[in-house]
Amino acid sequence: MGGRASSEGDGVVTFELDPDTGAYLFACGHKGAGKSKFAEWYFRSYPYARLVIDSNSDVDPEGRFTEWIDPAIDLVAPASQGRPPVYRCPVPDLGAWAASRGGEPGYFPSWRYEPDFSNAHWRYVVDAVMGEPPTRRGAGSGFLGLGQPVAVWIDEIGEFDPVGQTPPKFAQVLHKGRHAGVTLIMSGPRPKGVDPLCLSQADLIAMFDTPHALDRERLAEHVPVSRTELDALLDNLEEHGYLLFEGPPSRELSIMAPLPLERLEGREPRGEADSAMSFAGQDSEH
Ligand SMILES: Nc1ncnc2c1ncn2[C@@H]1O[C@H](COP(=O)(O)OP(=O)(O)OP(=O)(O)O)[C@@H](O)[C@H]1O
Ligand SMILES: [Mg+2]
Repeated sequence: MGGRASSEGDGVVTFELDPDTGAYLFACGHKGAGKSKFAEWYFRSYPYARLVIDSNSDVDPEGRFTEWIDPAIDLVAPASQGRPPVYRCPVPDLGAWAASRGGEPGYFPSWRYEPDFSNAHWRYVVDAVMGEPPTRRGAGSGFLGLGQPVAVWIDEIGEFDPVGQTPPKFAQVLHKGRHAGVTLIMSGPRPKGVDPLCLSQADLIAMFDTPHALDRERLAEHVPVSRTELDALLDNLEEHGYLLFEGPPSRELSIMAPLPLERLEGREPRGEADSAMSFAGQDSEH
């Protein structure tokens, strides 16, 4: 994973990712601790096609940096439906998408999908929307099938990928997606309840104050300090501050100041004004 420390005029040191390499991020912490803002920090600066799976519909309700989409209408279920049915989402046609919005070539979409919980198979639908990267054996599907670097942010990862209920294609994404240039951002309150692969595959783990002992137990399996030291570090975080663990090879654990949210808007690669204009009015059916 490529990354570097960065500090601007305000002196706050943050960590920056190399979007071309693909990295997996995991953020946890109690309600309101700042994990979604952490995820947004990386999502907002990601310069290629990006998709947020927003199961609580609270990431970007006004569509300021994402465009609401309903990919379910494009899903096709094969004739031989099993139990549960197999969904397959076509690879989005970005050229047509950009043209329909008067976009320039190289203009990447920033999509927000809010899964429909009334559909009992919503996990499978989300899985299909995310899709699979192309392999030597064949074309991919869904968003990851674009065959170019993409970012997928799953807010509330615990709802999407609880222990023992990993959506089938997501397991492949966790194992192989990074090699296809995928940046995966996972945020949720309870690391203990999440498929352990999410943490063990993470290049960066952001630990906001995570009070539950079982969650700390799980986190302690990954960081280079004892459980007692981890307790002390988490208990002494400032509000919205966090611990940042960088996976191998560095395996460093750093105490981080709160992200400077006033810089968040400026991280939009296309510029705030541009994206606000492009997305304005497109949420009307929602
Ligand atoms: N770095 C920060 N500096 C200042 N305020 C912050 C920071 N991070 C988060 N906040 C404040 O806390 C609020 C909640 O942050 P966020 O939405 O990231 O919480 P969360 O951890 O995702 O909680 P939830 O479990 O409810 O989704 C933000 O709307 C913002 O007001
Ligand atoms: Mg949140």
